[in-house]
Amino acid sequence: MKSIVILVSGRGSNMEAIVRADIPGARIAAVISNRPDAAGLSFAAARGIHTVALDHKAFADRAAFDAALAEAIDAFEPDLVVLAGFMRVLTDDFVRRYDGRLLNIHPSLLPSFPGLHTHRRALEAGVRLHGATVHFVTPTLDCGPIVLQAAVSVRPGDDEAALAARVLEQEHRIYPQAVRWFVDGRLRLDAAGRVMVDGGEFSAPAAVVPAIDEVMS
Ligand code: GRF
Repeated sequence: MKSIVILVSGRGSNMEAIVRADIPGARIAAVISNRPDAAGLSFAAARGIHTVALDHKAFADRAAFDAALAEAIDAFEPDLVVLAGFMRVLTDDFVRRYDGRLLNIHPSLLPSFPGLHTHRRALEAGVRLHGATVHFVTPTLDCGPIVLQAAVSVRPGDDEAALAARVLEQEHRIYPQAVRWFVDGRLRLDAAGRVMVDGGEFSAPAAVVPAIDEVMS
Protein backbone atom coordinates (compact mmCIF):
# COMPACT_ATOMS: atom_id res chain seq x y z
CA MET A 1 0.00 0.00 0.00
CA LYS A 2 1.24 3.47 -0.90
CA SER A 3 0.23 6.17 1.51
CA ILE A 4 -0.86 9.55 0.12
CA VAL A 5 -1.39 12.90 1.82
CA ILE A 6 -3.39 15.49 -0.13
CA LEU A 7 -3.14 19.22 0.55
CA VAL A 8 -6.06 21.51 -0.31
CA SER A 9 -7.07 25.10 0.32
CA GLY A 10 -10.65 25.24 -0.90
CA ARG A 11 -13.20 23.39 -2.98
CA GLY A 12 -11.09 20.27 -3.28
CA SER A 13 -12.58 18.88 -6.48
CA ASN A 14 -9.23 17.47 -7.62
CA MET A 15 -8.78 15.78 -4.25
CA GLU A 16 -12.30 14.42 -4.63
CA ALA A 17 -11.48 13.05 -8.10
CA ILE A 18 -8.43 11.28 -6.69
CA VAL A 19 -10.39 9.86 -3.74
CA ARG A 20 -13.24 8.73 -6.00
CA ALA A 21 -10.77 7.06 -8.37
CA ASP A 22 -10.26 4.47 -5.64
CA ILE A 23 -6.78 3.70 -6.86
CA PRO A 24 -5.79 0.12 -6.09
CA GLY A 25 -2.76 0.01 -3.82
CA ALA A 26 -3.29 3.57 -2.61
CA ARG A 27 -4.47 4.73 0.77
CA ILE A 28 -5.42 8.37 1.27
CA ALA A 29 -3.88 8.77 4.71
CA ALA A 30 -4.96 12.38 5.24
CA VAL A 31 -6.28 15.55 3.69
CA ILE A 32 -4.66 18.67 5.11
CA SER A 33 -5.82 22.25 4.55
CA ASN A 34 -4.26 25.61 5.40
CA ARG A 35 -7.81 26.99 5.56
CA PRO A 36 -9.95 25.51 8.33
CA ASP A 37 -13.14 26.29 6.36
CA ALA A 38 -12.04 24.53 3.16
CA ALA A 39 -14.99 22.68 1.64
CA GLY A 40 -12.65 19.84 0.70
CA LEU A 41 -12.18 18.96 4.37
CA SER A 42 -15.88 18.14 4.79
CA PHE A 43 -15.87 15.81 1.81
CA ALA A 44 -12.80 13.99 3.12
CA ALA A 45 -14.15 13.72 6.66
CA ALA A 46 -17.46 12.35 5.35
CA ARG A 47 -15.46 9.63 3.57
CA GLY A 48 -13.75 8.71 6.83
CA ILE A 49 -10.43 10.20 5.78
CA HIS A 50 -8.25 11.77 8.43
CA THR A 51 -8.39 15.58 8.12
CA VAL A 52 -6.07 18.23 9.52
CA ALA A 53 -6.62 22.00 9.45
CA LEU A 54 -3.45 24.00 9.88
CA ASP A 55 -4.26 27.70 9.64
CA HIS A 56 -1.30 29.48 8.06
CA LYS A 57 -2.43 32.76 9.69
CA ALA A 58 -1.48 31.34 13.09
CA PHE A 59 2.21 31.24 12.12
CA ALA A 60 4.76 34.04 12.24
CA ASP A 61 6.17 33.42 8.80
CA ARG A 62 6.27 31.10 5.83
CA ALA A 63 9.14 29.03 7.22
CA ALA A 64 7.32 28.40 10.50
CA PHE A 65 4.15 27.35 8.72
CA ASP A 66 6.00 25.08 6.31
CA ALA A 67 7.86 23.42 9.19
CA ALA A 68 4.57 22.73 10.98
CA LEU A 69 3.02 21.53 7.75
CA ALA A 70 5.89 19.12 7.14
CA GLU A 71 5.50 17.77 10.65
CA ALA A 72 1.77 17.23 10.11
CA ILE A 73 2.42 15.50 6.79
CA ASP A 74 5.25 13.32 8.08
CA ALA A 75 3.04 11.98 10.87
CA PHE A 76 1.28 10.01 8.10
CA GLU A 77 4.55 8.76 6.55
CA PRO A 78 3.35 9.36 2.99
CA ASP A 79 4.96 7.92 -0.11
CA LEU A 80 3.40 10.74 -2.11
CA VAL A 81 2.23 14.27 -1.29
CA VAL A 82 -0.37 15.70 -3.65
CA LEU A 83 -1.05 19.43 -3.93
CA ALA A 84 -4.66 19.82 -5.06
CA GLY A 85 -5.53 23.48 -5.18
CA PHE A 86 -3.15 24.22 -2.32
CA MET A 87 -2.81 27.97 -2.62
CA ARG A 88 0.46 28.55 -0.80
CA VAL A 89 3.91 29.30 -2.09
CA LEU A 90 6.17 26.71 -0.49
CA THR A 91 9.66 27.27 0.87
CA ASP A 92 12.62 25.62 -0.84
CA ASP A 93 13.27 23.53 2.27
CA PHE A 94 9.76 22.14 2.18
CA VAL A 95 9.94 21.33 -1.51
CA ARG A 96 13.33 19.63 -1.19
CA ARG A 97 12.11 17.49 1.69
CA TYR A 98 9.57 15.85 -0.66
CA ASP A 99 11.81 15.73 -3.70
CA GLY A 100 10.45 13.24 -6.25
CA ARG A 101 7.26 12.61 -4.30
CA LEU A 102 5.46 15.96 -4.49
CA LEU A 103 2.95 16.50 -7.30
CA ASN A 104 0.91 19.57 -8.27
CA ILE A 105 -1.77 20.35 -10.81
CA HIS A 106 -1.78 23.71 -12.53
CA PRO A 107 -4.62 25.04 -14.68
CA SER A 108 -2.63 25.90 -17.81
CA LEU A 109 -0.38 24.26 -20.35
CA LEU A 110 2.89 25.02 -18.60
CA PRO A 111 5.27 26.70 -19.16
CA SER A 112 2.58 29.11 -20.36
CA PHE A 113 0.79 31.03 -17.64
CA PRO A 114 2.42 30.04 -14.36
CA GLY A 115 0.87 31.75 -11.33
CA LEU A 116 -2.69 32.97 -10.86
CA HIS A 117 -5.67 33.81 -13.12
CA THR A 118 -4.56 31.43 -15.83
CA HIS A 119 -7.88 31.26 -17.67
CA ARG A 120 -8.26 35.04 -17.87
CA ARG A 121 -4.69 35.39 -19.08
CA ALA A 122 -5.16 32.66 -21.68
CA LEU A 123 -8.22 34.46 -23.05
CA GLU A 124 -6.38 37.79 -23.05
CA ALA A 125 -3.45 36.25 -24.89
CA GLY A 126 -5.76 34.78 -27.50
CA VAL A 127 -4.31 31.27 -27.31
CA ARG A 128 -6.26 28.64 -29.20
CA LEU A 129 -5.18 25.79 -26.93
CA HIS A 130 -5.33 25.87 -23.16
CA GLY A 131 -5.36 23.12 -20.57
CA ALA A 132 -3.89 21.69 -17.42
CA THR A 133 -0.57 20.25 -16.32
CA VAL A 134 0.41 17.73 -13.65
CA HIS A 135 4.02 18.25 -12.62
CA PHE A 136 6.52 17.37 -9.95
CA VAL A 137 7.12 20.32 -7.66
CA THR A 138 10.52 22.01 -7.61
CA PRO A 139 11.46 25.22 -5.79
CA THR A 140 10.58 27.50 -8.73
CA LEU A 141 6.80 28.04 -8.78
CA ASP A 142 4.93 26.05 -11.46
CA CYS A 143 8.19 25.08 -13.16
CA GLY A 144 8.76 21.45 -12.20
CA PRO A 145 9.10 18.49 -14.58
CA ILE A 146 5.88 17.84 -16.48
CA VAL A 147 4.11 14.50 -16.05
CA LEU A 148 0.85 14.88 -17.96
CA GLN A 149 -0.98 17.57 -19.86
CA ALA A 150 -4.50 17.77 -21.23
CA ALA A 151 -5.37 20.31 -23.88
CA VAL A 152 -8.73 21.90 -24.63
CA SER A 153 -9.64 24.24 -27.47
CA VAL A 154 -10.50 27.80 -26.62
CA ARG A 155 -13.90 28.31 -28.21
CA PRO A 156 -15.36 31.51 -29.63
CA GLY A 157 -17.47 33.14 -26.93
CA ASP A 158 -15.62 31.43 -24.07
CA ASP A 159 -15.49 33.45 -20.89
CA GLU A 160 -13.27 32.73 -17.91
CA ALA A 161 -15.85 30.52 -16.21
CA ALA A 162 -16.63 28.42 -19.28
CA LEU A 163 -12.98 27.86 -20.02
CA ALA A 164 -12.18 27.07 -16.38
CA ALA A 165 -14.96 24.48 -16.27
CA ARG A 166 -13.73 22.74 -19.41
CA VAL A 167 -10.16 22.68 -18.10
CA LEU A 168 -11.30 21.42 -14.69
CA GLU A 169 -12.97 18.44 -16.31
CA GLN A 170 -9.59 17.50 -17.77
CA GLU A 171 -7.83 18.08 -14.45
CA HIS A 172 -10.11 15.46 -12.95
CA ARG A 173 -8.95 12.97 -15.60
CA ILE A 174 -5.23 13.54 -15.59
CA TYR A 175 -4.54 13.99 -11.88
CA PRO A 176 -5.91 10.58 -10.80
CA GLN A 177 -4.04 9.08 -13.76
CA ALA A 178 -0.72 10.55 -12.67
CA VAL A 179 -1.30 9.43 -9.08
CA ARG A 180 -2.14 5.93 -10.32
CA TRP A 181 1.14 5.77 -12.25
CA PHE A 182 3.04 6.86 -9.16
CA VAL A 183 1.29 4.30 -6.97
CA ASP A 184 2.01 1.59 -9.55
CA GLY A 185 5.68 2.51 -9.43
CA ARG A 186 5.62 3.55 -13.09
CA LEU A 187 6.24 7.24 -12.56
CA ARG A 188 9.42 8.70 -11.15
CA LEU A 189 12.05 11.35 -11.58
CA ASP A 190 15.38 10.08 -12.86
CA ALA A 191 18.73 11.22 -11.49
CA ALA A 192 18.72 14.19 -13.86
CA GLY A 193 15.29 15.27 -12.63
CA ARG A 194 13.45 14.15 -15.78
CA VAL A 195 10.04 12.50 -15.65
CA MET A 196 10.01 8.82 -16.49
CA VAL A 197 6.81 6.84 -17.06
CA ASP A 198 7.71 3.18 -17.38
CA GLY A 199 5.89 0.37 -19.08
CA GLY A 200 2.76 0.09 -21.21
CA GLU A 201 2.00 2.54 -23.93
CA PHE A 202 3.31 5.53 -22.00
CA SER A 203 7.00 4.92 -22.34
CA ALA A 204 7.72 8.52 -23.27
CA PRO A 205 8.91 10.94 -20.60
CA ALA A 206 5.60 12.81 -20.84
CA ALA A 207 2.25 12.32 -22.52
CA VAL A 208 -0.45 14.58 -23.86
CA VAL A 209 -4.01 13.45 -23.29
CA PRO A 210 -6.31 15.47 -25.52
CA ALA A 211 -9.95 15.63 -24.51
CA ILE A 212 -11.98 13.21 -26.56
CA ASP A 213 -14.62 15.76 -27.54
CA GLU A 214 -11.89 18.08 -28.74
CA VAL A 215 -10.47 15.41 -31.00
CA MET A 216 -13.85 14.43 -32.37
CA SER A 217 -15.17 17.89 -33.14
C1 GRF B 1 -7.63 23.85 -9.84
O1 GRF B 1 -7.94 24.52 -11.01
C2 GRF B 1 -6.16 23.56 -9.78
O2 GRF B 1 -5.58 23.32 -11.02
C3 GRF B 1 -5.59 24.83 -9.20
O3 GRF B 1 -6.54 25.29 -8.27
C4 GRF B 1 -7.82 24.74 -8.61
C5 GRF B 1 -8.28 23.97 -7.42
O4 GRF B 1 -9.56 23.43 -7.58
N1 GRF B 1 -4.28 24.60 -8.66
P1 GRF B 1 -10.08 22.30 -6.59
O5 GRF B 1 -9.89 22.83 -5.18
O6 GRF B 1 -9.28 21.06 -6.84
O7 GRF B 1 -11.53 22.13 -6.92
